[in-house]
Amino acid sequence: MKNQKIKWGIIGLGNIANQFATDLLLVEDAVLTAAASRDIAKAEEFAQQYNAAKAYNSYESLFADAEVDIVYIATPHDSHAELSIKALENGKHVLCEKPIALSHKDAERMFEASRKHNTFFMEAFWTRFIPSVQDVLEKINNGIIGNVNYIKADFAFHGSETENKRLFDKELGGGALFDIGVYPLFLSYVLLGNPKEIIAKAIKHKNDIDLQTSMILQYESAQSVLHASIVSESDMKAVIGGTKGRIELNAPWFVADGYSLFINEEKEAVISLPTLGKGYSHEIIECQNCIRNNQIESKLWSHQNSLDLSKIVEEIKTQIGLSFV
Ligand SMILES: NC(=O)c1ccc[n+]([C@@H]2O[C@H](COP(=O)([O-])OP(=O)(O)OC[C@H]3O[C@@H](n4cnc5c(N)ncnc54)[C@H](OP(=O)(O)O)[C@@H]3O)[C@@H](O)[C@H]2O)c1
Repeated sequence: MKNQKIKWGIIGLGNIANQFATDLLLVEDAVLTAAASRDIAKAEEFAQQYNAAKAYNSYESLFADAEVDIVYIATPHDSHAELSIKALENGKHVLCEKPIALSHKDAERMFEASRKHNTFFMEAFWTRFIPSVQDVLEKINNGIIGNVNYIKADFAFHGSETENKRLFDKELGGGALFDIGVYPLFLSYVLLGNPKEIIAKAIKHKNDIDLQTSMILQYESAQSVLHASIVSESDMKAVIGGTKGRIELNAPWFVADGYSLFINEEKEAVISLPTLGKGYSHEIIECQNCIRNNQIESKLWSHQNSLDLSKIVEEIKTQIGLSFV
């Protein structure tokens, strides 16, 4: 494997699979070997578009392909757990889209399968790996804005029930919290860790999924004010406040191409750190490095990190009365 390209398989050929495959082409030592859809015509078209050698009409056939090293799971949330576990049982490394699962229990089963089969597994939290977020985390760790005591982050847009069906579909784990609420929660977690207390309120759809959810995460000496919505919009800048200054991640902050640094309310610097491609290439490179180093998890977005985040999401799910069963 050391000198060979890492061979990827992609399952669930929708919106994100196309964006991911575009970025995969930018990573030198990666190759798309196979694509699988429930519809063979779609798989063949996708394979042709992104230069994959093989197209399958079932996800299981791709799991059984001995040539594939790592499977990228790009299906709706409700299937992440079962499909990840199946792929891991087939000896594949797995990168699974966020949110990791619809319950903390399922997330635990997924990481257990990775340990049992000694195969790499990561939740596709691409924002963790983009250059601006990497740089901000390093600078904050070095104390550039003092102690972080305030975070404001959101993810909000006008979804359409006809064009964004998956988002409004309860069966597929729809709603704001699981689809996009995980991003502001991620930012708070990655900077401040597990909160002492969580308060969340939602406005629901008639089918009971959350249309918008507001969350406060309370820490010993910090608060995060977070929001997710599929029925309204915001500027999608994120502010990280500290005892000496603040950082503003450019909008949309979860794929920021840079940030501004303020010290004592004065603008000190404007930093530009664009992503490679759409921003997914950075998580792809991380997966490849881990596989080449025989790691079953990333040190930057570990199994425990995903489990902690899923526990926070589970608490909010309970508070706002979401249930997918
Ligand atoms: N990281 C990011 O930036 C990002 C962005 C968007 C979405 N996501 C995540 O990626 C996942 C997929 O989102 P998406 O926006 O790509 O969704 P999408 O456009 O609806 O595509 C999902 C694909 O999953 C497959 N699928 C399997 N079972 C399905 C079912 N019961 N109903 C519908 N589709 C089914 C379909 O592929 P086949 O027909 O080919 O089998 C479908 O095209 C979600 O978990 C989402 O949270 C991540």
